[in-house]
Amino acid sequence: MKENKTISGFSKLNKTQKISWLEQQLGLDQSTGGFLSSFEVQDDQLQSIISDLSENHLSNFHLPFGVAPNFLVNGKMKVFPLVTEESSVVAALAKAAGFWASRGGFHAEVTGMEKRGQVHFLWTGDPEKLIRVFPVIQKKLLADTFRFTRRMERRGGGIMHMDLNYLPGILPHYYQIDAAFNTCDAMGANFINSCLEQLGKSLCEFLSAQETWPQEERGCQVIMAILSNYTPGSRVRVWVECAVEDLTGDNDVQASYEFAEKFIMAVHIAKHDVSRAVTHNKGIFNGVDALALATGNDFRAIEAVGHAFAGRDGRYTGLSEARINGGQFVFSMELPLSVGVVGGVTAIHPMTKLAMQILENPDARELMQYLAVAGLASNWSAVRALVTTGIQKGHMKMHLSNILVVLQATDEQKQAARLYFHDRDVNFADVEHYLKSYAGQ
Ligand code: MEV
Repeated sequence: MKENKTISGFSKLNKTQKISWLEQQLGLDQSTGGFLSSFEVQDDQLQSIISDLSENHLSNFHLPFGVAPNFLVNGKMKVFPLVTEESSVVAALAKAAGFWASRGGFHAEVTGMEKRGQVHFLWTGDPEKLIRVFPVIQKKLLADTFRFTRRMERRGGGIMHMDLNYLPGILPHYYQIDAAFNTCDAMGANFINSCLEQLGKSLCEFLSAQETWPQEERGCQVIMAILSNYTPGSRVRVWVECAVEDLTGDNDVQASYEFAEKFIMAVHIAKHDVSRAVTHNKGIFNGVDALALATGNDFRAIEAVGHAFAGRDGRYTGLSEARINGGQFVFSMELPLSVGVVGGVTAIHPMTKLAMQILENPDARELMQYLAVAGLASNWSAVRALVTTGIQKGHMKMHLSNILVVLQATDEQKQAARLYFHDRDVNFADVEHYLKSYAGQ
């Protein structure tokens, strides 16, 4: 049995040493090094950009980079670059894009760009005194953070306002300085965190300089200073709409209404049943994450706020809404999103740079809109399939492709198998059997 020994200084080993350690420690094949290097790019400069993104880099992990064309967003035709490991996601987005492009497209508006962060601290004294003095403290805090905010203010951003919250229900003597930021086109995490750490230091300095105050009030304990990924003030509203009779495309008014009503019921169920809501929202993030990954944005932050927003009323619900309004079918969603288009991975990774070019170099507001559109489009395709054919039909096509890859089918065999399984159930054993018996594998 392997010993539970820790290794120290692993990060200081070079790549070859790290790989040999893995090979020895885990009994990996001696060819592991060659295998890993076969996934690296030939161009040394490009490879070092990717290697430098993360500690203990051994190789690259490939995911498919694809596109979905025909996204008409606020009257402009867009191609969405997408990165996902889930085979049906791009097809679902492309389908939704084409469908809505001939029905007015997607409409999106940014309703806010505010990001927030907090200094969490303990202070022992009369809360009313601190609250009363806070406007004076705030002047020092703003002056001390000016070295960070100066450049952002020139672009129209910076620290927009600050509140002092006294929250003894969480901890005795517990306060927050809750600051609102506008980081313009940047994700701004470093900017916000630098400002917040300075706010904490400046607060301590202010308090210790109050010579007339009792000793216990002349200090505070800063617990932490960190941005919040909960950004409901940075939000997009996105929607599609068309006459109900245009929904089925064959002028069958009754079928269109039946479809619309079933679709609305499915969305309603997601509003009220958590089991369905989580899956419904997962379908939304299939689209959002694929575009977020392609553009080098932090999809964990995007998901975290999206799910928290889905539970903002104390109950987790589906994020989208559907209704019929005066003969119009309206499908909409509000999604909090904070993203950046300058700085960070977006400006470094060669593939994200290309993704941004494919999107025609949007600013942060536009990218927020596209992410919300990708979410609504993905949700549309999923729910539409669920209430009509079911999703397995589309998924099975992709499932078949994956099985054929695993079984190393030739192009000819793949073509034959796709025809054969067109109207048959797909499972690994049947595909293997088919390849052996009929396609001469
Ligand atoms: C699969 O990745 C996503 C769906 O399950 C979403 C949904 O059920 O709405 C199809």
